[in-house]
Amino acid sequence: MQSRPLTAQRAAPLAGAVRVPGDKSISHRALMFAALAIGQTRITGLLEGEDVLRTAAAMRALGAHITNPAAGEWHVCGAGIGGLAEPDDVLDMGNSGTAARLLSGILATHPIFSVMTGDASLRRRPMARVMDPLAQTGARFAARAGGRLPLAITGTGHALPIDYRLPVASAQVKSALLLAGLNARGDTRIEEPIPTRDHTENMLRHFGAALTVERDGPGRIITLAGQPELRAADVIVPGDPSSAAFPLVAALLVEGSAMTIQGIGLNPLRTGLLRALAAMDADFTIANERVEGGEPVGDVTAAATRLIAADTPPELAPSMIDEFPILAVACAFARGTSRLRGLAELRVKESDRLAATLALLIANGVRAAIDGDDLVIHGTGAPPEGGGHVITHMDHRIAMSALVLGSATTSPVSVDDTAFIDTSFPGFCDLMTSLGCRFA
Ligand code: S3P
Repeated sequence: MQSRPLTAQRAAPLAGAVRVPGDKSISHRALMFAALAIGQTRITGLLEGEDVLRTAAAMRALGAHITNPAAGEWHVCGAGIGGLAEPDDVLDMGNSGTAARLLSGILATHPIFSVMTGDASLRRRPMARVMDPLAQTGARFAARAGGRLPLAITGTGHALPIDYRLPVASAQVKSALLLAGLNARGDTRIEEPIPTRDHTENMLRHFGAALTVERDGPGRIITLAGQPELRAADVIVPGDPSSAAFPLVAALLVEGSAMTIQGIGLNPLRTGLLRALAAMDADFTIANERVEGGEPVGDVTAAATRLIAADTPPELAPSMIDEFPILAVACAFARGTSRLRGLAELRVKESDRLAATLALLIANGVRAAIDGDDLVIHGTGAPPEGGGHVITHMDHRIAMSALVLGSATTSPVSVDDTAFIDTSFPGFCDLMTSLGCRFA
């Protein structure tokens, strides 16, 4: 991919009403579940970013019939549980950990051989977290040292169900095991000590699977009955709250701003950032709350605010796991010392996001440090100096966070490569520019 450097200068006050692209997590799942269902599923609002297009290509290579008759509208004719065909080439999941992990669950319980790879970022990310529990089904895996892609999977047609307690709070691992459980005989049981996003559970029910969720202290126990008949069911994809986070924080930071983002997904397991920002005194309101396609949705209006420091507990981290780089940017403008706790998982995202976020702050004159698994940021209440050059390490969220930072710092902020923004937020630069940002 050709690199695309960019510089953000101080923005004009952000104004207007926008919609962000569809939710990435829900988009991947919609294509995968539809490919495993009988009949035709119509998906509207699908995120047409690189990551999700990789999932569409993989499901096609596995035999699902997928068409894209209009922007955001996708039709999928599924092959049924256990009905996918052996792909005749390597499956390339690009930059997407969600695509690779969830698909490994599907492939484990089909009697086919497959090989999966990805770009340099994805080939560095750990796959043992899914391979180890998926081996309980009887599937066999061979990967590079350290459990890295490329990964070869010999799936099984006689899968045993998995019983597993998640050692890391990961919706990707949970979802991979549930997807594998669809073609296992008997009940798949997963204990989740800290709740993570539950789009897989919601969508499994939507497609007709028998699934129960019991509370277990702060956690949950999820039980899925194997070999259900999944029936095609239309999906409306809400706007991605993880994408909305960037214009939202920009509006809070750029003086004089007031703007609205419409149709954002408000699943409570995704709204940690809104809770953290509310505790920082952020001026935003949620209106027009409704349920669309089984997920809560609403419009968020935000205005520029003098923020106070944040202190976020580790148990809330999964509900804003992708939002820490942009929350850290907000903390850099806040008055006081912020502590974002329990961020170990950020080390295995598209980049070592904990190190990349710290470097982004320090390059732009913010006092910050990593303390164990916490990120500590010292804000003065005044805009940081800026003027730094940010290395994005193939990480879309580092690139977008840096451009938001540069929209409100005293001096411009430059970014080495914005090409990866297309993985999750195609049209980001045009949308931000339409609101008042200045990128060149
Ligand atoms: C996702 C789960 C999260 C998140 C990722 C999407 C998902 O990863 O970071 O962007 O769709 O399930 P983990 O579950 O590995 O924390």
